[in-house]
Amino acid sequence: MQTIRVRTPVKSVKYDIRIGSGVLSEVGKEARVTLGERTQRIALISNETVFKLFGEQTVSGLNAAGFEVSTWLMKDGEQYKSLRSLEQALTFLSRSGIERSDAVVALGGGVVGDLAGFAAASYLRGVAFIQVPTTLLAQIDASVGGKTGVNLPAGKNLVGAFHQPRLVLIDTDTLRTLPPRELTAGWCEAIKQGAVGDRKLFERTVRLLSSIDFSLWPKEKKLQTNVHAAKSQTEVYATDLAATIAAHCRFKAAIVAGDEKESLDRDDRRSRRILNFGHTTGHALEAVTGYRRFRHGEAVGHGMLVAGEISKNLGMLAPRELESLREAVRLCGPLPPAQDIDVDEVMRLIKSDKKSVSGKIKWVLIEEIGKARIVDGSEIDSRTLRKSLRAGLRAQ
Ligand code: NAD
Ligand code: GLY
Repeated sequence: MQTIRVRTPVKSVKYDIRIGSGVLSEVGKEARVTLGERTQRIALISNETVFKLFGEQTVSGLNAAGFEVSTWLMKDGEQYKSLRSLEQALTFLSRSGIERSDAVVALGGGVVGDLAGFAAASYLRGVAFIQVPTTLLAQIDASVGGKTGVNLPAGKNLVGAFHQPRLVLIDTDTLRTLPPRELTAGWCEAIKQGAVGDRKLFERTVRLLSSIDFSLWPKEKKLQTNVHAAKSQTEVYATDLAATIAAHCRFKAAIVAGDEKESLDRDDRRSRRILNFGHTTGHALEAVTGYRRFRHGEAVGHGMLVAGEISKNLGMLAPRELESLREAVRLCGPLPPAQDIDVDEVMRLIKSDKKSVSGKIKWVLIEEIGKARIVDGSEIDSRTLRKSLRAGLRAQ
């Protein structure tokens, strides 16, 4: 098991990310060490898909460590990351008799984590919570850094709070059951993290993607090896995967440590805002297709290519660097097509992006792989934007 410590500018707020194959079996012990003896009750929030796979193990582990566990399963899907589900979650916490010394555990992907985290942030003005992420996207990104929230009909993540978890427990074996598209979405976010902030992380992720055929990864948790045999390829994959996820968590932890709340005053290349690379176009693509065509990470995959095209067209990114980005996105897996989408409609939606500050859009671009630059939208004329969208959206 690897441990990464997340620190925030508030000295009292720090927590561990524990990563490894099979660590879910330690959930009770880890939760007890983190929460202390005072915590009696745990409210477990998950969904049916995930609970069927890992619920029993989680509940029995927590029970064995002396916690009284109550469970609520939200419906599965982005559309349920809503105020209505939040109300149901808060009602569940109150019916479970959760007190300030108790805790919430989120078992699932980013949807469960964001909603459960926000319920924990707001119930009794804040109770402890533990993230047990089970998608790749949640393991490398959403579970780390304390962004929690729900969507409004007007847009994604419009209501929320920064509420750091007390522990993040990442069992990489849970990824064995993840559908291929969810893996692709997670890998796109992984490529994003390397592309904006760490060339070595980018190259390491590309190496892993080039070497692994995830379709051959056994769905069974038990690895098919015998003790006398050399390590099977599967074991090597499992080790490489856990180490790469750990490297991503380390990267995200470093960004969060420097700019926990994504300060409006920051637009340097270590600001948290750089993690929005690919998101300006990505959000517009999700909205223009009614949130039905793309997984979030897939839309970010297209969005990164558009941001790469803009960077090249502004003369700040060498064509060979853009080609490396394209190749990396290709390795993540097939993306749903985007070339049929009306570019003018995308441009209109980009102009109303909720990440704008005083009405101005800030684009996260790159000067090279691993080096982000934040650029004011006024520096990108409509012709350049249209040309970059056309090229970026047909690049896959
Ligand atoms: P998700 O939570 O919808 O999970 C994807 C699907 O995989 C779901 O159907 C889920 O039930 C299923 N699933 C989860 N784990 C599984 C497993 N191990 N095996 C089989 N199926 C499994 O999607 P996601 O990509 O994890 O998260 C997306 C959400 O995360 C979005 O709402 C996004 O806004 C949010 N997000 C938050 C942050 C943050 O910093 N808080 C960062 C990035 C994304
Ligand atoms: N996923 C972007 C962030 O956590 O800031």
